[in-house]
Amino acid sequence: MRKAVYPGTFDPITRGHLDVIGQAAPIFDELVVAVLHNPSKRPWFDLDERLAMIAEAVAPYPNVRVDAFRGLLADYCRSTGIGYVVRGVRHHVDLQSEMAMAHMNRALFRDLVTMFFPTSPEWSFVSSSLVKDVAMHGGDVSPFVPAGVAEALAARAQGASKGHG
Ligand code: PNS
Repeated sequence: MRKAVYPGTFDPITRGHLDVIGQAAPIFDELVVAVLHNPSKRPWFDLDERLAMIAEAVAPYPNVRVDAFRGLLADYCRSTGIGYVVRGVRHHVDLQSEMAMAHMNRALFRDLVTMFFPTSPEWSFVSSSLVKDVAMHGGDVSPFVPAGVAEALAARAQGASKGHG
């Protein structure tokens, strides 16, 4: 069984992430979208919220499931029998850090192979950070994220602005 992981912060999941999932899912028997549990990054959405948003977004893919992990990705893959890491690349700048991560993961776990998927050009400028920035300033993020995520972002942005008086 060919198992892959698509790891990330997913704060929140975007249509760019979903584009990568759509490309990778048919290649593997199982694709696990694994959310890094790292509260020190101070995410907008807590782990359960991110898992729920991803689960809803990947529902159309029968071989895609959602999980969370702590610590090293290499350890998570070793303990779950995952041999492939999926990562999206939007442009050449991404490649620099992605190559370093791929090499480090392979140094930590020799059997781990990273596969890069070029994100479709229409999502090449989309990131979770930019989407949060647009939402924070009252912009329409619905072109860039699934509908449920757009609603959650708008609600969170409204709550944050109220919180800051
Ligand atoms: O969505 P992101 O923030 O670009 O994802 C980065 C992520 C979570 C894939 C990466 O930071 C990671 O794998 N973190 C787990 C810790 C780890 O294994 N570090 C060494 C790998 S280079």
